[in-house]
Amino acid sequence: MNKSGYQEDILRFISHFNASVNNIRLYSMDHPQVKKYIRTAYTILIDIFRVKKEMTLLLIDNDLVVDNTPIRSAGAHIVQFVSILKESGIERITLVAGLTGNGFSGFIREFASSDDSVIRSSQFIKLGKIDVKVKKEAADTMSTLSKEEKENLEELMEVRDLKYSEIKQLYHSMKAQKQVDVRGVDDMIKSFIKGFAHGLNPINLLASIKSADEYTFTHVVNVCILTMSQAESLGFKGKHLYQIGIASALHDVGKLFIPDEIISKPGKLTQNERKIIEGHSVKGARYILRMKEIPKLAVLGALEHHIRYDGTGYPELKGDWQPNIVSQMIAIADVFDAMRSRRPYQEPKPMELILQILEKEKGTTFNPVLVDNFFNLIK
Ligand SMILES: [Fe+2]
Ligand SMILES: [Fe+2]
Repeated sequence: MNKSGYQEDILRFISHFNASVNNIRLYSMDHPQVKKYIRTAYTILIDIFRVKKEMTLLLIDNDLVVDNTPIRSAGAHIVQFVSILKESGIERITLVAGLTGNGFSGFIREFASSDDSVIRSSQFIKLGKIDVKVKKEAADTMSTLSKEEKENLEELMEVRDLKYSEIKQLYHSMKAQKQVDVRGVDDMIKSFIKGFAHGLNPINLLASIKSADEYTFTHVVNVCILTMSQAESLGFKGKHLYQIGIASALHDVGKLFIPDEIISKPGKLTQNERKIIEGHSVKGARYILRMKEIPKLAVLGALEHHIRYDGTGYPELKGDWQPNIVSQMIAIADVFDAMRSRRPYQEPKPMELILQILEKEKGTTFNPVLVDNFFNLIK
């Protein structure tokens, strides 16, 4: 099945899911119409499982993200599905291949009942809620790390330092327009994926800059860590989490094509210099677009990471352009790391002030749901 066929299947699945829930509420579980809708939804799901072993539907604010991809259609089905999820307090559903027809119809029945406490996770249906309490507890336990967790953290720090030079190389080979090989960055991203699964507070892993010229690459590694840990906490995993790692590692690749004297100019920038720097988004996206082996998500990350949640920022794109959810995560990681770093024109800001600024920019610069999730991760 091609990609658009897969997308269509997801939309059809959602519309039959809604129809099933609505009809159970109107009639009963045994009504022939209900049975028909559930059967069709299940058949579509089986088709989807032929392409992917599992499918994750994730609610972020009012947007639905299926696997890696925000569903851009604002059709009535999506709006209704989002409201069904919200009513139930469910923000993430992962359906796993192996789910039986009975298991599926039981799940739909639980969803249709007005009592959301009956909706349960199972082996083939995993449900999630971005739970503030759970994340807080995870953060608290960081101060009392077990031996295994300490070892995990130390191991990750080692990988981070080792891979720092490979990121540098990757960027340099991109600058030289040579064939780009992301394999060096590969291990770093895979190790981070493993580390985040242990509920790691990403702040513990951030590298600090030793000299001014190290900024670009330290920043890249940090943005990668901060973006991946956000993504992991929202339920992205496996291949998607990996691609998000690559996208965040390449978000600023366009800066390679901006003269150094402008990038590290200590004083105030002229209007013209500012415009040149702002060009790094489009330059980076255009560059990655030509690279065969780099996931296309990285094109979006480079292009969109300075577009604000309210649609302002840069570059100015046509129409009602909505940045990809991954670009929105990169934007938070990017600004957070920039504020905590010493730059030729800026002293590092204290953590308290950084958090205040993020809080203030919720809903304007940043997606508010993502900011709250980010706070839960790092506090
Ligand atoms: Fe940037
Ligand atoms: Fe950046």
